[in-house]
Amino acid sequence: MKACSKPNIPHHWSNFYTVDAFRRSGGEMVEQLANYLAESQDKHHDQVLPFSPPEERLTYWKSRLENESDAEPGRLWKENLLEEVLAQSNRLHDPRYAGHQVAVPLPQLSWLQAATALLNNGMAIDEMGPASSPMEEAVTQELAQFMGLGSGASGILCHGGTLANLTALLAARQRKAIGNAWKDGSARPCAVLVSEQAHYCVDRAVRVMGWGAAGTVKVRTLSNHQIDPEALRESLAEATAQGLEIIAVIGNACTTSTGTFDDLEMLASFAQQNDLWFHVDGAHGVAQIFSERNKAPLKGIEKADSVAMDFHKMLGVPALCTGLFYRNSSDAYAAFSQEAAYLYENEQEEWWNLSKRTFECTKRMLSVAVFGIWEAHGNKLWESLVDRLVDRAQTAARAIAQRPQWELFAQPQSNIVCFRLKGADNAALRHAMLEHGPHYIVKTVLNDETWLRCTFQNPLTEDGDIEGMLARLEELAESALIQP
Ligand SMILES: Cc1ncc(COP(=O)(O)O)c(C=O)c1O
Repeated sequence: MKACSKPNIPHHWSNFYTVDAFRRSGGEMVEQLANYLAESQDKHHDQVLPFSPPEERLTYWKSRLENESDAEPGRLWKENLLEEVLAQSNRLHDPRYAGHQVAVPLPQLSWLQAATALLNNGMAIDEMGPASSPMEEAVTQELAQFMGLGSGASGILCHGGTLANLTALLAARQRKAIGNAWKDGSARPCAVLVSEQAHYCVDRAVRVMGWGAAGTVKVRTLSNHQIDPEALRESLAEATAQGLEIIAVIGNACTTSTGTFDDLEMLASFAQQNDLWFHVDGAHGVAQIFSERNKAPLKGIEKADSVAMDFHKMLGVPALCTGLFYRNSSDAYAAFSQEAAYLYENEQEEWWNLSKRTFECTKRMLSVAVFGIWEAHGNKLWESLVDRLVDRAQTAARAIAQRPQWELFAQPQSNIVCFRLKGADNAALRHAMLEHGPHYIVKTVLNDETWLRCTFQNPLTEDGDIEGMLARLEELAESALIQP
């Protein structure tokens, strides 16, 4: 008798562990996704983002839940589920996508992601990641060294820049704050110095650590959005006079809204002079380290104590996948020096028990994609991707500069470009594009005014798509579709 016979009940779990059902559904899905990819890349649809109000979409999905549960035997979800998800989602692979900072994934990585989803090794301890834990250690060491952090450097992978920044600040606190903050809490209220243009997740991390609003000392920036060195000195003096213990300075590489890089060289020497931890929030722009042509704004990164870099922004890896790199690999253990008797036998530095260095316990097998690309291509694939994306932003900037009715915020240093149509209501213009398409772009507020913003994430975006976007915006500005 078989250990697990398959009862004739459609909802029984054993129907869904069969190799046949797995093979069949996989084959169908490969076809469906390949067709989706072809359609998206060839622009065979009306809009990048199929626009409809959130309430309308909620009504649709709720109504589906009201229907009978009547899946076909052996099917885990209803036949048209994926079809609807594909139809209603934002099509990042459309070359007219130039919106938020999320990778347009290298399509083949979907299969690696699917493979690691099936394996589901939890990564917290060595036994739950016998392949992927040493892969993570090996590839993060190499990448940290590629960044110039030195022979004692290494890193961890985690889910997102937000978490990486929080983790870096926990390590900074343990190394720089008075006393043992991990054990006893902070002896004095701590704070970090950060650009007023920093991503909001830094402020959030600081509040999570219990330092409140005062814990984020926002330093004034120059008109180009770089930290003003004079303001930096003043902010340190003022915060110290107020009784705050400043433990770290954080550099942007680059800022979220305009793609501006702080002067990392200047921040590194400031940190050294004042005995501060130097963290680089490079969630978006540290990817440029792989490019000979585009790495100049990262000069000084090699002096950082810690660097966060998202693979899921400019590097084509599906979200979420972030590296947190430390100059001194043992700093990673300082962030979490906690006993967990059921997991670890001691408090030693054991690279193979990854959760000694990560906030997360279980995490996805993030290293497989990163390792795979690095092993097969070194920096070359990422270099060509980054160069193409930055080139798209520079091409857009040139096209904008050639049109007198348009204004460019600044020459792009990255793949982000901000611009506006002179005399127009740019917020309404963006909304008109959102609603009527076909392009997908976003907006931001700079000096209290709305600017349009593109992050060129799709290497397939052609010059014609960029010209088409500007022409479409001009058309919308003149049409009745724009509502102030
Ligand atoms: C500079 C910067 N830091 C941090 C983040 C947050 O990263 P994540 O979305 O990976 O959590 C972002 C996201 O856009 C960012 O631009």
